Amino acid sequence: MARIIYVNGRYSPYSQASIHVEDRGFQFADGVYEVCFIHNRVIVDLDGHLDRLDRSLGELRMAPPMSRPALIHVMNETLRRNKIRNGYTYLQVTRGAAPRAFSFPGDDIGSSLICMARPHDEKKNNALAKKGINALTVPDIRWARRDIKSISLLPQMLASQTALDQGCAEALLVEDDGFITEGSHSNAWMVDHDNRLLTRRADNSILRGRTREVVAATIIELGLKLEERAFSVDEALAAKEVFVTSTTALLMPVVQIDGKQIGAGVPGDISNKLRQLICDAYGM
Ligand code: PDD
Repeated sequence: MARIIYVNGRYSPYSQASIHVEDRGFQFADGVYEVCFIHNRVIVDLDGHLDRLDRSLGELRMAPPMSRPALIHVMNETLRRNKIRNGYTYLQVTRGAAPRAFSFPGDDIGSSLICMARPHDEKKNNALAKKGINALTVPDIRWARRDIKSISLLPQMLASQTALDQGCAEALLVEDDGFITEGSHSNAWMVDHDNRLLTRRADNSILRGRTREVVAATIIELGLKLEERAFSVDEALAAKEVFVTSTTALLMPVVQIDGKQIGAGVPGDISNKLRQLICDAYGM
C-alpha cells in the first residue's frame, strides 16, 4: 500500500506530493509542528496538541491554516487513508511560499499545511521501557524560545545524533550553569531520595510537553510531591530515578547518564507506576 501524505489540500502518494521550493519552511524553518499519538485509531490528547499548535502559531504571528474541525478532519482522513491503528500523526504549518525575504510575506500568502501518519510498534516501545535507556549530556545550544514547537530543530538533531553515536537513545541538553533543560526530543525528570518528582518549570527554556502535563497531573493525583524546578546533571546522577517523557516515548526510564548508573541501574518503581498509569489513561 502506498503511503499517503496530505499537502495543501491534496492527499497523494509520497512520490507525487510536492512542496514549493520557496516554501518558508524549506528556506527559513519558518513553521511549527505537532506530533500526536494514535492508539486504536484515536488521536490521544487531540485538543491539548491543537491548543499548543495555536499557541506556537500565535507566538510566530502565523495564521492557522484552517478551522479546527477542518484540521481534525484532515488528520483523521490521513490516518484512515494510511490505515493507521497505532502510530503517530505529524502536522506541520509553515508561513507559506513567497519570494525569499527575511520580512513576512503579505497576508495574501496562505500558510502551508502538511499532515502525515506513521505506524508505531507499541510492543517495541514497551520492551525498551522495561530495560530503560542510556542518555548522554550535551550542551544546549538552542535559541531562547524553546516553548515554541518550531520546525527549526538543528541543535536537537545534532544532539540526538551525538547521543546515538555513543550508544545512547536520548541526549540531555545542559546549559552553561550545569542545569538540564530537557531532552533533545523529550522533557526530563528525576526522582530524589525523598521521592520528590522534579522537572523544569515550563517557561521559555523548554517545550511544555503534552506528556509532561499528563504526568504532572498523574503525580498530583497520586499524592506524590511535584517540584517544578531546574535540576543539575550532578543531581540527576545522584537521583533515585531519572526518566524522560514525550508523545513518542511516553515515559522512558533513564538508567545510565554519561556511562554512570542511575539508582539501581534498572527502571525504578515510580517510573514504572507512572508509565503504567499513562498507558491506562491512553487506553493502552
Ligand atoms: N518531541 N521537548 C522537546 C524539545 C521535544 O521535541 C518534545 C517532543 C518534548 C515532549 O513533548 P510532548 O510530550 O508534547 O511530545 C519536549 C516530539 C515528540 C518530536 O519532535 O517528535
